Amino acid sequence: MMISDIQKKIIELKKEKNAVILAHSYQAKEITEIADETGDSYALSVAASRYKDCDAFIMCGVHFMAETVKMLSPDKRVFLANEHAGCPMAEQMDPVMINQIKEKEPDRTVVAYINTTAALKTVCDVCVTSSTAVKICKKINNNKILFIPDCNLGNYVSKQLPDKDIMLLQGGCPVHSAVKLCELEAAKKRYPDALVLVHPECRPEITEAADYVGSTSGIMDFAKKSEYKEFIIGTEISITEHLQYECPEKEFYNLSKEIICPNMKLTTLIDVYKTLQNIDNGNAFEIKMDNELITKAKACIDEMIRLGG
Ligand code: 13P
Ligand code: SF4
Repeated sequence: MMISDIQKKIIELKKEKNAVILAHSYQAKEITEIADETGDSYALSVAASRYKDCDAFIMCGVHFMAETVKMLSPDKRVFLANEHAGCPMAEQMDPVMINQIKEKEPDRTVVAYINTTAALKTVCDVCVTSSTAVKICKKINNNKILFIPDCNLGNYVSKQLPDKDIMLLQGGCPVHSAVKLCELEAAKKRYPDALVLVHPECRPEITEAADYVGSTSGIMDFAKKSEYKEFIIGTEISITEHLQYECPEKEFYNLSKEIICPNMKLTTLIDVYKTLQNIDNGNAFEIKMDNELITKAKACIDEMIRLGG
């Protein structure tokens, strides 16, 4: 079967099952092509909550993203297309550890990057995404913040908001934090006319040397709207490919060929097809969360939305 044959079958099946396919921007092109919504983690969950009449969501992304959709649309069935796709950063810290820190630092507002498990969100006060982190932290009515788990994103936020006292822990994305300054310098030397666009999960020396820092959607929007013609992309290499398709008249280069998220790469078109086929027989991976967990974990997402995130 050709890719386009499976895509056609998926489109038929999703109509038959009244399902909506959500694809994070790091997914392969053959998946984003059949998705109803594509975007960064925040855009996807907000978009999902607008589908009032569907029966199910299929998330092509990682586990915490499917959990977020479930929290925002608890009456819908939510499936993760590949059950093994998790985000290692989301698993780095657990509620017991954060509660211990809270006991020592009781006057801090605990800010959780959305790349966290629902269990961890239950002990946090407000959620942020890479596209809303600075805006939300600025609006928090407390200068003392504990920002978890990503110390690179937290560091970027604290540089933008010097008046805030932001406590960080050692956590972060193993993929983005592996990007090296020497790679950025080599790319700039090779492509001197290119702008450098990076994700805030990169280390401080990378974000400081960049021309633009933003979420996956932020990077894509910036590149599309920019009058510049060449860009060095400092996030998952799929974004470079998507941008090249969308703007064939511009040139996009990978900051490093090693910015590959193995978890985001797990999901295949066949996974999406099989999830749809198995949606009613118990063989698809459904996100199950009890109401108490949803209520407790969702409080910090609601707070993010209240603060305008
Ligand atoms: P975005 O919110 O920018 O989509 O980031 C999610 C992510 O996992 C990036 O590594
Ligand atoms: Fe998690 Fe990093 Fe992969 Fe994003 S790129 S899903 S933060 S491991």
